[in-house]
Amino acid sequence: MSYLQWTENLSVGVARMDEHHKKLVELINTLFDAMSGDATRAVDTVLGDLLDYTRYHFAEEEKLLAASNYPALEEHQAIHRAMVKEVLDMRQRYQDNPASVPAVEALDFLSKWLMRHIIGKDLRYRSYVEESSGS
Ligand SMILES: [Fe+2]
Ligand SMILES: [Fe+2]
Repeated sequence: MSYLQWTENLSVGVARMDEHHKKLVELINTLFDAMSGDATRAVDTVLGDLLDYTRYHFAEEEKLLAASNYPALEEHQAIHRAMVKEVLDMRQRYQDNPASVPAVEALDFLSKWLMRHIIGKDLRYRSYVEESSGS
């Protein structure tokens, strides 16, 4: 069973962005699955993978928003930068002292980190990108 699930109501109207979001959900689920095993190593591995993929996704999403003349692009970029920093900070805390970042805490944080952004911010660009690619 998965911890997090991507559902249709999370769709931003662009299949490629939805696929990216599904991949981010999958990475968080990887951590959930690993919690019954060597969770300490999973935190480290998943944070690294998540950072790599997050940077890739944010860059691609920002290109799409720029091409669609999305009016809140700058605000969205700033939020993305802050989100990357949050994960970098978590990884730093983990590297300084792995015991300070329990897997259950990382899981809870990352789930909210992703879902709040998709629901609260990404869904707002839906009508803009649909319009620009719909003609
Ligand atoms: Fe975003
Ligand atoms: Fe996104």
